[in-house]
Amino acid sequence: QPRVFSGVQPTGNLHLGNYLGAIARFVPLQDEMPAIYCVVDLHAITVKHDPALLAGTTREVTAAYLAAGIDPKKAIIFNQSQVREHAELAWIFNCIARIGWLSRMTQFKEKAGKNRENASVGLFAYPTLMAADILAYRATHVPVGDDQKQHLELTRDIAQKFNNDFADQIKELGLGIPNPTPSPELPDELFFPLTEPMIAGPATRIMSLRDGTKKMSKSDPSDLSRINLRDSAEEIAKKIRKAKTDPEPLPSEMDGLAERPEAANLVGIYAALSGKSKDAVLSEFAGQPFSVFKPALADLAVDKLAPMTGEMNRLLADPGHIDAVLRDGAGRASEIAGPVLRDARRIMGFLEGR
Ligand code: TYM
Repeated sequence: QPRVFSGVQPTGNLHLGNYLGAIARFVPLQDEMPAIYCVVDLHAITVKHDPALLAGTTREVTAAYLAAGIDPKKAIIFNQSQVREHAELAWIFNCIARIGWLSRMTQFKEKAGKNRENASVGLFAYPTLMAADILAYRATHVPVGDDQKQHLELTRDIAQKFNNDFADQIKELGLGIPNPTPSPELPDELFFPLTEPMIAGPATRIMSLRDGTKKMSKSDPSDLSRINLRDSAEEIAKKIRKAKTDPEPLPSEMDGLAERPEAANLVGIYAALSGKSKDAVLSEFAGQPFSVFKPALADLAVDKLAPMTGEMNRLLADPGHIDAVLRDGAGRASEIAGPVLRDARRIMGFLEGR
């Protein structure tokens, strides 16, 4: 049974990459299959965080979900820490995943930096919690940006090892679903599905406005490097005006952008915001200098983002409403994850007391 799950960390500075690479893509999926969108606050504490700010940043991501057009009556919107099953399944997965697998995660290496000995164990185990987020709902489809690809491969590896290691129990207890894509590596009945990453479109990797070789990121110290979802129209226009470019006019074909990361990035942003392909954008602006393209991009970005920013600010003025959405969503999420965890506990062989 198909189901979408995705999550965004409440670490502040939500930006255009989070919107185009993820949140905007969540919206149409809610009409295609049951959808669950999570604010992953347990992930936000894997690096040093300020407890006084966490509730506010959690509400900010929720407001972005709602303002982007996710309907809390259709999709489930909730924050991770309200549903205990995530942490419980993550523990089981910590005992499935291998240290070697986690040691290869590039995001851990980047975030831990040189002083790896001093990184939290939670930062190391981050991907097992992410696998638990997805598999506690037996979700099949996960829309994310390109930077999450490796984590989703690990999620599949964990599901696969669980299905293999406990194949006998799964069968004996009658808890398996037939494997839709039979293969020699997998038993014919699975408890956890093998998740499909959804990484597609012109915006899977939006780059920094200051350096076309670095991804746009919440933690970049330069605010000019990113367009924040709560920037004013003036700030958006200014950041696009100041975005790094090269002196050449825009080419007529994608090949002409190969060695021009900043230009390619701005064309990708234009394409994603307008819903056109990059080729269509280039045929519209072929031969034009950035003095023409940038104002057009700024107008488009303000047109698309300003109404959302306004709606986010309106929603954030009423935190009680946001909290009620999250509470309701957490209740509905638990109703799905609760039975999955009950079955997972039986598969593991835990003695059931109550
Ligand atoms: P996070 O909070 O870093 O980012 C949220 C989403 O935004 C995407 N993204 C980008 N897309 C395009 N260009 C960029 N520059 C850019 N920067 C970020 C991310 O790929 C992501 O889709 N580990 C996840 C959160 C998570 C999760 C999950 C996602 C936790 N559990 C389960 C899916 C399923 C993260 O840190 O995202």
